[in-house]
Amino acid sequence: MPFNNQNLPYAKNHLEPIISEKTIEFHFGKHQNGYADKLISLTNNTKFENMDLVSIIKETADDPSKTPIFNNAAQLWNHILYWESAREYREENNIPNGEFSDAVNASFGNEDNLKAELLEASVNLFGSGWVWLTVDPQTKNLKILKTQNANNPITMNLEPLITIDVWEHAYYLDYQNRRPDYAKGFIFHLLDWNAAQEKYLSVLQQK
Ligand SMILES: [Fe+2]
Repeated sequence: MPFNNQNLPYAKNHLEPIISEKTIEFHFGKHQNGYADKLISLTNNTKFENMDLVSIIKETADDPSKTPIFNNAAQLWNHILYWESAREYREENNIPNGEFSDAVNASFGNEDNLKAELLEASVNLFGSGWVWLTVDPQTKNLKILKTQNANNPITMNLEPLITIDVWEHAYYLDYQNRRPDYAKGFIFHLLDWNAAQEKYLSVLQQK
């Protein structure tokens, strides 16, 4: 599996002015590709060499001897979803009407509450990690999660719909230590609610 064959789904200046081209050059070009290169070296000539990322994550999550493989596979997978979770800047960035919007209203009251809770989670997550909007495939309930370091909801039997990277490398060049400003911009102006809706509907169809 050529883990380092990932492509950014848009140009490096696509998320400006919230996330600069320079940040993406480092974040995608150095950090994400670093995880991919490390994963290749760790899995070379092992049974993980030709596995997909989700299978590697599930197989290594509970094995302390495989923590380096888990960390790099999960970080790579998390970043792929992160880029898919964003689209170009929109001043008004609302959730389209439909089943996903109905589910948001059922779980959070309204989409303003969802965005406020995502922001609170992003600001309050201690250290490095990720904020997720997930759906439970069994109950269909939506839930916000915070995970530290490389951890992700795949190992909790939850399907991630969107994720927000709150590692410092995601925002430090543009915002220095002002994580709340980065998180506000990402949540209110970049999140791709159409992509989240598509993922939600595909989870519903799995049952
Ligand atoms: Fe990152």
